[in-house]
Amino acid sequence: MNVLSVTAEIFPLVKTGGLADVAGSLPKALKSHGIRMRTLVPGYRSVIESLDDATPVARYDSLFGETATLLAGRAAGLELFVLDAPGFFYRSGGPYTDEHGVDYPDNWKRFAAFCFVASQIAGGLVQHWRPDIIHAHDWHAALSLVYVKYKSEVEVPRVLTVHNMAFQGQFPAHLFSELGLPDEAYSIEGLEYYGDLGYLKGGLQAADAITVVSPTYARETMSPTFGMGLEGVMNARHDDVLGIVNGIDVDVWDPSADPYIEHRYSAKTPLRRLPNRQALLDLFGLPQTPGPVFASINRLTWQKGMDLLAAVVDEIVTMDGRLILHGNGDAEIEYAFLDAARRFPRHIAVRLGYEERVAHKIHAGADAMLVPSRFEPCGLTQLYALRYGCVPIVARTGGLSETIIDANVAALQAQAATGIQFSPVDAGGLRLALRRALKLYRHRRIWEGLQRQGMKTDSSWHRSAARYAELYGDLTATDMRLAG
Ligand code: ADP
Ligand code: GLC
Repeated sequence: MNVLSVTAEIFPLVKTGGLADVAGSLPKALKSHGIRMRTLVPGYRSVIESLDDATPVARYDSLFGETATLLAGRAAGLELFVLDAPGFFYRSGGPYTDEHGVDYPDNWKRFAAFCFVASQIAGGLVQHWRPDIIHAHDWHAALSLVYVKYKSEVEVPRVLTVHNMAFQGQFPAHLFSELGLPDEAYSIEGLEYYGDLGYLKGGLQAADAITVVSPTYARETMSPTFGMGLEGVMNARHDDVLGIVNGIDVDVWDPSADPYIEHRYSAKTPLRRLPNRQALLDLFGLPQTPGPVFASINRLTWQKGMDLLAAVVDEIVTMDGRLILHGNGDAEIEYAFLDAARRFPRHIAVRLGYEERVAHKIHAGADAMLVPSRFEPCGLTQLYALRYGCVPIVARTGGLSETIIDANVAALQAQAATGIQFSPVDAGGLRLALRRALKLYRHRRIWEGLQRQGMKTDSSWHRSAARYAELYGDLTATDMRLAG
């Protein structure tokens, strides 16, 4: 079976968050199910420069006003289609925003062009490779399903995966006439969204199946708090919604073979982890300490609850713990952490930005990983932490609540606990979680039990890839029945 995956990010070529990790690792995981997934990505500079070989398969003199070439090629073991449209994608900022973090004003057009090409591939544009399924990720790719539904002559089952309801691709309604869609596409069943255009909304309506990156978040999105305006659509599409937890690439995240860490270890040799802790404290200029070393690798945003963490750093200082922070995001939150590091230089160290290499070292060296998200569709950091014996301390929400087993009495007795969950998700809740962590940390046997259980947890794609394969199978079988 051939599947066309459509995504704005793919690891290791272009990444702003977990979407890239998922889009980059799922194709490999699906291979053993007999599924050949090829991925369409925008031709950002980093993507074009990574291509091993590239063959032009289609040319556009004017694709939404820009010249473009569709390339077929490979990079980092991934089979790709790349939309090389320099006017849209060869820019000096990030995938969605300029150097100052401001959304590109023509995002509506950049991703419409991208999605239009996706729909053409689904319709048979590329000789010798026709997809049996088109699978789009998030709002940037959602419009491809709308194009397939309203413009394509070929029936291809359509899957949409929601990674985050907070990003919806909402644009003024007057742009509709530029999209080249029939009038009926601007309706409640289509793109119309509170008087605007909603790309994610349109994708949710056009999809035959909607997957959400955890069952808990799938349910949460049907409520006003988490649905963020789309709860009505999610409720209406209830029967076609499926929650599938993300897997991780266990080859990229493997403490026994990680090229970024100096001292490799596994669940069988946990003591070998210790030198990584020392190395990490050295790297961040913090003194060696018997107290717990907490870390957070995160986008510094409201979603991630990083303002809550900034508000309780004194708790970590009081218990003589350490905090290592790596990430970037909102200026105010960045400032709050820089200020904390200035006030408590022996306890708190901050490295703004994001480097994959540093992220690996932190997972291998820190005692606990803090993930205080206000909402979290799935979350990957806590899964990487589990595998590296870094105990996750997570907010009880979305995917966090179903991937980490809280160290309550029953779970400890059953030797099933893998971390700490806290609720309510506010500064008070987080403070109590830190205190709980300290108590557990002082009981070496219990803490090591948490680490061991975590490292034994199977967070690979094994189960979830099978669920995607099953879904694709069901959708193509339905299609065949309808055709017959
Ligand atoms: P999200 O996608 O919402 O940021 P996930 O937990 O799913 O959250 O994925 C986070 C991924 O992005 C992890 O691979 C993590 O190491 C990485 N990451 C964390 N912070 C940053 C950052 N500031 N910039 C880029 N990647 C980051
Ligand atoms: C989004 C979500 C995150 C999820 C990731 C990959 O960025 O915020 O929870 O893990 O997508 O699905």
